Amino acid sequence: MSRQQNVLEHRLRGRDFLAVADLTAGEVSGLLDLAIAYKRGAEPGHPLAGRSVAMIFLRPSNRTRVSFEVGISRLGGHPIALFDREIELGRRESVADVARILDGFVDGLVVRVPSHRDLLGLAEHMRHPVINAMTDQGHPCQILADCLTVRELLGGLAGHRVTFIGDGNNVCNSWIEGANLLGLDLRVVTPAGHEPSAAVLGASERLGPGRVSVTNSLDEGLEATEIIYTDVWTSMGQEAEHEQRREDFGPYQVNGELLRRAPAGVRVLHCLPAHRGEEITDEVLDGPQAAVFQQAENRLWAQQALLAALFAPADAAP
Ligand code: CP
Ligand code: NVA
Repeated sequence: MSRQQNVLEHRLRGRDFLAVADLTAGEVSGLLDLAIAYKRGAEPGHPLAGRSVAMIFLRPSNRTRVSFEVGISRLGGHPIALFDREIELGRRESVADVARILDGFVDGLVVRVPSHRDLLGLAEHMRHPVINAMTDQGHPCQILADCLTVRELLGGLAGHRVTFIGDGNNVCNSWIEGANLLGLDLRVVTPAGHEPSAAVLGASERLGPGRVSVTNSLDEGLEATEIIYTDVWTSMGQEAEHEQRREDFGPYQVNGELLRRAPAGVRVLHCLPAHRGEEITDEVLDGPQAAVFQQAENRLWAQQALLAALFAPADAAP
């Protein structure tokens, strides 16, 4: 283990990861270095040997649950997936009691819940690390993998321009934090009424040297951009608004015509799952400018680095 990795683990051991803003720019950079090392085949060791990590998933998932489950296993740990039908969070048992019980059994918790307040409630009553695997307010693990992908595609993060086209909710919120923290130039393009909240924009401003602007104009957003990023128009739990959202977001579809308005060579990312034919077309998603499957695979490497750092053994002194 390198001294750099040792210092990173010393700093992150035992901490929660509830938002991108929980990390410093240096810590993100260290995690991405570690993720790249793992991706290149560095042996991760077994920092989770003899430890169990529960994963509460109250929303569907492919990438997040499987990448966490595989990552925990590769690091020598035992993942335990818990779904709504079993845990009935806040109905069968209070959020605080669920946390207190699990805290006595397991060494950490990965949480995908609709309500960010429930995530905070679980974290408050767990002594062991809690990781946000997506709430209505944020998806910080996604942004770690996205930043790894942008680094691979563009050779770095600071000073590069990313254009987020879509809904100003969870993924966008975490991107706003990440861009500010890491010095990116993020342009958020949404239909009127779907902008990210002023509270998120305001609170993220102080995180670092990045710049974030919000517009309803595609031309403004696409100017000199290097990455176009999109997310579904109808997030999990918003299904009743599907028709209205199709109407609101229709002009913002990432399609061949939109790519022709962007700088040549722009790359396209999507957190996935894609609703093909809504926010993005097959032509773009399956085309040469998209890097979405590389991005999806990076979930595993970025989270393996995160897990290794949060669950580093106590004898890994700097
Ligand atoms: N991007 C993402 O979080 O995918 P899943 O919902 O499949 O986990
Ligand atoms: N905004 C989407 C992200 C899915 C990974 C949702 O919340 O459903």
